[in-house]
Amino acid sequence: MTMQELKTLQSESLSHIGAINSLKELEDARVTLLGKSGKITELLKSLGGMDPETRKTFGQAVNDVKVQVQSALEDKKTALERAELDAKLATETVDVTLPATARPVGKMHPLSFVIEEVEKALSELGFDPVEGPEIDTEFNNFTALNIPDDHPARQDHDTFYFKPLKGENERRLLRTQTSNVQVRAMQNMTPPMRVQAIGRVFRCDSDLTHTPQFHQVEGLAIDKNLTFAHLKGVLQTFLTTYFERKVEIRLRPSYFPFTEPSTEVDIGCIFCGGNGCRVCKHTGWIEVLGAGMVHRNVLANGGIDHTQWQGFAFGCGLERLTMLKYGINDLRLFYDSHAAFLRHFGKPAARI
Ligand code: PHE
Repeated sequence: MTMQELKTLQSESLSHIGAINSLKELEDARVTLLGKSGKITELLKSLGGMDPETRKTFGQAVNDVKVQVQSALEDKKTALERAELDAKLATETVDVTLPATARPVGKMHPLSFVIEEVEKALSELGFDPVEGPEIDTEFNNFTALNIPDDHPARQDHDTFYFKPLKGENERRLLRTQTSNVQVRAMQNMTPPMRVQAIGRVFRCDSDLTHTPQFHQVEGLAIDKNLTFAHLKGVLQTFLTTYFERKVEIRLRPSYFPFTEPSTEVDIGCIFCGGNGCRVCKHTGWIEVLGAGMVHRNVLANGGIDHTQWQGFAFGCGLERLTMLKYGINDLRLFYDSHAAFLRHFGKPAARI
C-alpha cells in the first residue's frame, strides 16, 4: 500500500466513523478496521516483510492512523452512549407534580397490640413468656390441674374433644384455658420461676358474650415464702401498668380447682370511677381475672415439693381487658373482620 492509499484509508475511516449512528455499526467498524483481520491490523502484519527503511516510515504512519482511528472510535462510543442515556432519561422522567396514589396502610388488630402490652407489663415484673400447645392432653388441661375425671369443674368448660387416635388411651382436646401451660412449665423448669403464657383457648359456646375462640394470659410464680400478698402486689402493679392509670382492685373469695385459696379480682370501674354505670352494672366494680395460690396437688404433678416452694397463679381473658381499655362494647367485633372496626380501633404499625 502506498502512503497515498494509507491517507485515503485514514480519511475514509474517520469520516465513516464520524457518520455512524448506532453502537452496533460502530462495533462493525471497529472489527473491519482493528479486528483480528481488520484492514489496519493486516497493514501492521504486513510490515514484517518490508525493508527496514520503509518499515520505519510506513510503520510509523500506520501506527498514527491506528491511534487516530482508535480514539475516534472511543469518542464516538462515548457520544453514542451518552445520547442513548439521554434518550432513556427523557422517556423515563417522572412527573413529580402528579398527585400521589394513596396507599392504605394496614393496622394492628387491637388484640394483637394488647398481647404486646400485656406481655411487656408482665415481663417488667419478671414473668418470662413461655408457650404451650393449643391441642393438648386431658391430663395437662384438666387432670394435672387437680380436676379429676368426675369433677364438676370439667362441665364448666364446654370442651372440644378430638377422637382418640389408634393406640391412644387419652383423648386430646383444644385447650380450654392457658393453665395447661402450668404443669409443663413446672416439669421443664426448676424453681424459682416466673412465667407468662398468652394464647388462644377454646370453649364450645357462642352467644353475645362468648365466642368459641378467645385469648387468655396466664401468670405463674413459684418461689420460697411466696404469699397471697405477693400475688396481690403483682396484680395491682400489672393492672395499673396495663390500664396506664391508678386502678383500685378488690379480691373476692372464689373457687378454682387448681388454686387454694382462690380469688376473683375486680377493678374499680374505670368508666364511672365507682359511682355506678351500665358497664359495671351499677356495682362500681368490674371482674377482670381469676387467681390464687397454686394447689399442692398441682405442684406435686409438676414435680415440685410443696413443703419447700409456694406458688401463685392468675389468668384472665384478653378480649375483656381489650374491651375495657379501648372501649369496645361487643365481643364479636374482634372476630368479624370488618375493615371499619380495624380502621377505628386498630393501631398504626410502628415504623421500623
Ligand atoms: N384458668 C382460669 C379460667 O380459665 C383462670 C385462672 C388461672 C384462675 C390461674 C386461677 C389461676 O377461668
